[in-house]
Amino acid sequence: QYSAIDNMSRVAYFGNIFHSLSFTESQTILNGFIAVESGKIIAIGSKADYTSWSYEHKKYFVEVQLSENQFLMPGFIDTHIHAPQVPNIGLGLDKPLMEWLNAYTFPTETEFKDKVFAKAVYEKVVHRTLSCGTTTACYFATIHKASSAILADEAYSQGQRALVGKVAMNQYSPDHYIEKLEDSIKDNEEFIQYVKSLESDLITPIITPRFAITCSMEMMKKLAKLASTYDLPIQSHISENLDEIKFTLDIFPGHKSYAEVYDTAGLLTNKCIMAHCVHLEDSEIELFAKRKTSVAHCPHSNTNLRSGLCDVKRLINGGLKVGLGTDISGGNRISILDSIRAALDVSHHLNFMKKQHVLGTGQVSVNEENSQYEPIDYKQAIFLATLGGAQALAMDDKTGNFQIGKSFDALIIDSYVGAVDDFVLPKSLTEHLTALEKFEKLLQKFIYTGDDRNIINVFVDGRQVI
Ligand code: GUN
Ligand code: FE
Repeated sequence: QYSAIDNMSRVAYFGNIFHSLSFTESQTILNGFIAVESGKIIAIGSKADYTSWSYEHKKYFVEVQLSENQFLMPGFIDTHIHAPQVPNIGLGLDKPLMEWLNAYTFPTETEFKDKVFAKAVYEKVVHRTLSCGTTTACYFATIHKASSAILADEAYSQGQRALVGKVAMNQYSPDHYIEKLEDSIKDNEEFIQYVKSLESDLITPIITPRFAITCSMEMMKKLAKLASTYDLPIQSHISENLDEIKFTLDIFPGHKSYAEVYDTAGLLTNKCIMAHCVHLEDSEIELFAKRKTSVAHCPHSNTNLRSGLCDVKRLINGGLKVGLGTDISGGNRISILDSIRAALDVSHHLNFMKKQHVLGTGQVSVNEENSQYEPIDYKQAIFLATLGGAQALAMDDKTGNFQIGKSFDALIIDSYVGAVDDFVLPKSLTEHLTALEKFEKLLQKFIYTGDDRNIINVFVDGRQVI
């Protein structure tokens, strides 16, 4: 539609706008405008503000008017996705974590030693995630340096903002999918150099110890050193599953908690994001808060692998930065819209559990003590999928909302196409509504029932990528 829009264009977008300002605050601008120059947001306000610009100023801008059923919102941020696990999505989700890894995940990832296979998969993964509105993806690749570079190339050429991690693992892994410590560090350093050679503001390498079980303490320490030498972010998994926690504490004796194992290695930095955190103890949340380490909340995965219900409110109240992750293929949905819904579901289920008290008779009564517990609402879930994700990835100076100076990473949503094409707001529900209230109905409709068909265009750093 606007294929001429690249990141050198000057564009003024007019229409309804929604974005998050914090976990509890959002901003809606009806008949708004956003001006973009060289990919960056240079102004945001009401259309009337733009009208008052001088002709001399306006004449350089391409003007794009959205329809009344459309709106602009920030692009989604997937803070945790395993790109090589897309081929085995949906398989073996009746198994717990450790069995599932051995039966499905490790065999699939092993195949990425084949660069032709890797290219074919990664091309589709980047395209598919972009189509679903994921403007920023934080990827796990595999242990293979060459195919990890192919994933970085794909994100680069298709214009996605991406953090790409070459996975490190040197113990408790299958014979066909394991590295020697020295090779792993050397390959990682070469991978980092390769990504840097792309000279792209959008693509960043990320240090990726798979999780403590598959990494010796020496390896984790060397990886932490690499992160500090190159000032890089770090990602891994923590406290997903009770057996995993027990095994971790068995093989790293002398540590009081799982988080302490990573802390000993020096991995808990202010640019570190840990997936899951389902079973963190209070002391571990405090340690994360002290280190400014953040969380990738992956609700689908936690349900599929029967890991548990992650209390995202508890993590946020503990002062942690939290984003959402699809965790493909523990998660079975590639769209962050689905993660938003899963996060809402899990938060509601926890709310019921906390409020309910099962009596000996099997009957359920209200547990007064916890009756104050409130689940997250849909706008808070949107925050987690956008600005929260940007904060969790320490990228909120660049993306996450429409603050002036940030990149224009945005979606044009149309509430009246695709899944909801025969949807017309019932007259009785809308005739007394203000324009703002009507807009909120469209937003709700998209969040609860929309899919990629409603995502008309996707922009990353001002460039139209879908
Ligand atoms: N823990 C270690 N590796 C993985 C993985 O690939 N997926 C999930 N969900 N958890 C993990
Ligand atoms: Fe994962």
